[in-house]
Amino acid sequence: MCGIVGYVGRKDAESVLTVGLQKLEYRGYDSAGIALLSSGEIEVRKKAGRIHDLINSLSSYPLPKAHIGIAHTRWATHGRVCDSNAHPHISQRGLFAVVHNGIIDNYSLLKERLQSEGYSFSSETDTEVIANLLEYHYLKEGNLLEAVLKAVKELDGSFALAILFKEDPNLIIGVRKDSPLVVGLGEGENILASDPVAVLPHTKKVVYLNDGEIVFVRKEGVEFYDFSGRRIEKEVKVLEYDEEDAEKGPYPHFMLKEIYEQPRVIRANLERYVRDRRPVMLRDLNLRKLLLNKNRILVVAAGTSFHAGIVGKYLLETYAHTPVEVEYSSEFSSRKLATDSRTLVIAISQSGETADTIDGLRYAKKHGLEVLAIVNRPESTIARESDYVIYTNAGIEVGVASTKAYVAQVLVLTLLALELGHVKGHIDDKELERLLDDMAGLPNQVEKVLALDSHIAHIAERIYKSTNVVFLGRGINYPTALEGALKLKEVSYIHAIGYAAGEMKHGPLALVDNKLPVVVINPRSSVYELTVSSTHEVVSRGGKVISVITEGDKRMAELSAFSIYVPSVPEPLTPIITIVPLQLLAYHSAVLRGVDPDKPRNLAKSVTVR
Ligand code: AGP
Repeated sequence: MCGIVGYVGRKDAESVLTVGLQKLEYRGYDSAGIALLSSGEIEVRKKAGRIHDLINSLSSYPLPKAHIGIAHTRWATHGRVCDSNAHPHISQRGLFAVVHNGIIDNYSLLKERLQSEGYSFSSETDTEVIANLLEYHYLKEGNLLEAVLKAVKELDGSFALAILFKEDPNLIIGVRKDSPLVVGLGEGENILASDPVAVLPHTKKVVYLNDGEIVFVRKEGVEFYDFSGRRIEKEVKVLEYDEEDAEKGPYPHFMLKEIYEQPRVIRANLERYVRDRRPVMLRDLNLRKLLLNKNRILVVAAGTSFHAGIVGKYLLETYAHTPVEVEYSSEFSSRKLATDSRTLVIAISQSGETADTIDGLRYAKKHGLEVLAIVNRPESTIARESDYVIYTNAGIEVGVASTKAYVAQVLVLTLLALELGHVKGHIDDKELERLLDDMAGLPNQVEKVLALDSHIAHIAERIYKSTNVVFLGRGINYPTALEGALKLKEVSYIHAIGYAAGEMKHGPLALVDNKLPVVVINPRSSVYELTVSSTHEVVSRGGKVISVITEGDKRMAELSAFSIYVPSVPEPLTPIITIVPLQLLAYHSAVLRGVDPDKPRNLAKSVTVR
């Protein structure tokens, strides 16, 4: 939520910052702005709308040449979407410009205090308070670091800040508490950003800030401090990504690119976690001991990661015989826990920065529970704060709709369930090897589903004008129905619900008429016959069925207006195959409706607010 970037060096700051903003646009895209420091003056341009609106406006109202600046792409929290609420915000006397990712909970109290000191405000944001608070303390202290320390100590809430200071033309200050911030170390230039994707075009050497840390970034180097003002040393890491990972390449949208990357992502995880027909996640003896000592698992996650958690529940209960509950992370931290030390919390997250899931992880730890994270982004807050981490190796996911990260999460959970089941003696060598052999075939099977793209685009043409779509699945494909519905609604704005197929007759069947498309996910499985019955109930009430079924299934095809055939795989692997056509269906529906699937309204990729 909100992307911030700051640059100091020899290059043209405006172009570095606009490219940086484009890389970070997935974090928020309702307004954007830039502040440059040139000839001793801070110059700001900001605008409601997309980054290209800001860039277009710069041609009629150009910025001066500069080699230092900060920029922001906004996902509004406090204050409407309008030019004046866009960042950067400038302090009253123009000493500081600030861009902010996060929320200041006590901003109205601080604002009242500053108003009583003579400060006036020109926006409705919490961020303007930070700019004025910095100025207030600087004018009192006369010392910049002291002023920053005093200001941040007064702020309650979450914040990643990039600050420009009028009196020093070679300095950007970064501050982090509960919102991500990374510094890229270049040659004669340094760059500060919310996410390494904005740093990649310049350098692969980075330092991640922890909560409660401040960085002074100059073109010659960087200095780190903690919130008590002590100088600290930080470890330099090398990014494992390549610049192309964050590029669209030949694809019109990131969402499509990422859907097509799924075979590669599956291969990468199989290579990493399977050796000689054995899963090797639990070769880490500490992780093995941890899982063997637990008799209950609580999964906490949000959105798509929550759906992966439900697939994980089916698998872990089936193979490892461990009871699993799956909970929205936003609900988890606000209730009393009936847990003991034998309960393991698994936090699942693509970004590793989802505020609700971070809260869930911290809440669990506060209650003495151990946390295993299943995370895509290394160095993310969730990865760093958890006791153990399993990475999902999906690479950078830019599209707001999570696709390849979901498939990677499900795959990793499958391997974990199988390995744990094997270690606990619930699966024998033969069954394990058979399933692993089947998993080895998944990349090719997914490629076969991707080859159905134009058929799925044709089905999208039939549903994209609908106002409602229902998704039905049963057993291990119930979460596929939830995920298919989430994909469709978030990128196409068509109202969609996912339902357990057997639950349909307990109410939602009343929705069915001859205008309602009903997507039934029913590959061959132990619940196939029951789902055929649910499909009959829909068809006999006029519902138009689009089925995702196993190749050669004539019975379901006869009940369906459209069928999407997926290759035959064993039941526990079906969620990996069946979600792919639903991702494509959502993608094509969005494009047909004229929505940019990479930037659906009101959303942002990484939800760093509560
Ligand atoms: C999925 O398409 C979403 N846009 C969203 O639900 C996402 O899965 C959720 O915000 C959780 O994100 P995380 O996996 O990064 O924690």
